[in-house]
Amino acid sequence: MSEGRVRTDFDTQPPVPVHEYARIVAGVNVGYDLVFTLATCFLRALHQPELDVLVVGAGGGKEIEQFLPSNPKWRLVGVDPSRDMLGLAQNAAERLGVQERVELVHGSIDSLPTDRQFDAVTCLYVLHFLPDDAKLALLRGIAARLRPQGALLVVSGARVDVGDLSGDIFGIWQQHGESLGLPAERMAKIIQQIVSQQATRSPRRITWVFCALRASCEWSPFST
Ligand SMILES: C[S@@+](CC[C@H](N)C(=O)[O-])C[C@H]1O[C@@H](n2cnc3c(N)ncnc32)[C@H](O)[C@@H]1O
Repeated sequence: MSEGRVRTDFDTQPPVPVHEYARIVAGVNVGYDLVFTLATCFLRALHQPELDVLVVGAGGGKEIEQFLPSNPKWRLVGVDPSRDMLGLAQNAAERLGVQERVELVHGSIDSLPTDRQFDAVTCLYVLHFLPDDAKLALLRGIAARLRPQGALLVVSGARVDVGDLSGDIFGIWQQHGESLGLPAERMAKIIQQIVSQQATRSPRRITWVFCALRASCEWSPFST
C-alpha cells in the first residue's frame, strides 16, 4: 500500500452510511448526474446495440439505473468489494426488472477471469478511494479485460499539484453539497473524512477528473 494512504471500506467505514447513499451521493460527488448523462452518451456513441459493459464499483446501482432501461440489449457485469453496496445494486436491478441482464460479483477486477472480455468498462467515483499502487493494479486489470478497441470511462477525484487552488476547490465542494440539500456541518464532515482517508501527501488539493480512453491508447481528459 502507498505510504500514508488507506483504502476506504464501504462495509466497515463508509464515507456516507450505505442506507443514505442514494440520497447523499449526488451532493458528495461533484457533477454526479451530469457524469452519468455523459457516460450514457459515451457508451451509446460506440454504436454497439449488444454492448457488454463491465462496471467497476457497481455498488449503489446507479449504472444499472442509468444504462440498462433505455438500452434493452446491453448486458452489465458489476464488481464491487462491498456487500452492502452490492445489495443496493441488486435492489435496483430487481426494481427495474433488468436482473437477467445483470451479473453482480463480490470482489474487484481480479474476481473476473481475464477471458471475460468487455466492449466497455466504467470506473466511476472509485479510484480516489484506493492507494496509488492499487489504482495502477486496478487499471491494469481493466486493460486486461477490454476487447481490442474497447472503451474505458474513468471519473475520479484527483490530487492537483499545480497552483494554489485548494481553498477554492474545497469551498466549491462544500457549496456543491449544500446546494444539493446537505447540511453544512454534515458536508464538511464528509469532506474531512474523504480527504483524511485518501490524500495525506497533498491533502488540500483535490479536483475531479473525467477521462475517456480507448484500448488503443487514444485519450481525452476533461477536468472540473
Ligand atoms: C462512491 S461509490 C461509487 C459507486 C458507483 N460507481 C456510483 O458512481 O454511484 C464507490 C464504490 O467503489 C467500490 N470500490 C472500492 N474499491 C473498489 C475496487 N478495488 N474495485 C471495485 N470497486 C471498488 C466501493 O465499495 C463503492 O461501492
